[in-house]
Amino acid sequence: MQVVICKDSNTAAALAAKILADRIQANPKIVLGLATGRTMERVYENLRQFPLKFADVSTFNLDEYIGIKRSDARSYWHYMHAHLFDHVDIKDENIHVLDGMAPDIWEAAAAYEDEIEVLGGIDLQLLGIGRDGHIGFNEPLSSFGSRTRTVYLTQTTREQNAPMFGGDFNQVPECAVTMGVGTILEARELMLLATGVEKAEILAQAIEGPITSMISATAIQLHPDCRVVTDVAAASALRHKDCYRRSIAGDIEFSEYKSMRA
Ligand code: F6R
Repeated sequence: MQVVICKDSNTAAALAAKILADRIQANPKIVLGLATGRTMERVYENLRQFPLKFADVSTFNLDEYIGIKRSDARSYWHYMHAHLFDHVDIKDENIHVLDGMAPDIWEAAAAYEDEIEVLGGIDLQLLGIGRDGHIGFNEPLSSFGSRTRTVYLTQTTREQNAPMFGGDFNQVPECAVTMGVGTILEARELMLLATGVEKAEILAQAIEGPITSMISATAIQLHPDCRVVTDVAAASALRHKDCYRRSIAGDIEFSEYKSMRA
């Protein structure tokens, strides 16, 4: 694992976007796994600034709420179009977002796994981290072998996401459909972005803590090519900073990260 500590959240988002842009440039037919949430908003904002061709890029989003229509501004379908897809030349048929209104959600989840396989697997999976350590919507106790499926959201997650639902966690759907931890671990490369002091404790457990299905993000420790991009605030609870190859308070020298492998 590589841990890159940036001086602030803007720099971390810019670095994550730069890495994505580099991967797209190197492989115009890349299959990307994408995440939503507040942390990613600035990543997509930065990514949109690059003169990139998305015509042959395929994407698979991690998750979606169950019972929220795609046309609803709170759906992740809507989020992805607002923050990225409507700004780039990606083809509709190359966009894959789970449908929380699918008549048979279990069949749709299985079909999602098949679609990923048909396209040869995910090259780079972008991840955020929830306050309870979820990646995607893999809440505590998600098996590391879990596949795309329906899940119940924890109270912590519903409270975390309440701002998008008028501040009332009761309005946040109780259920979601998410790629599994096993699905995520099969991506060829992982990049987890975490910023802000509210992520500090859980990020330290994800990177330095014992591997446990109670904290799905600890599964990234098992991945052979995983990079964590973070800022000083989110890195503040890490105890072994001297172990990391990059622990920077100044500006990222973007040209240098490429030479470092996980
Ligand atoms: C969303 C997702 C979640 C978020 C996580 C952090 O697609 O996969 O795991 O990345 O809940 O969300 P924010 O960035 O809003 O704190």
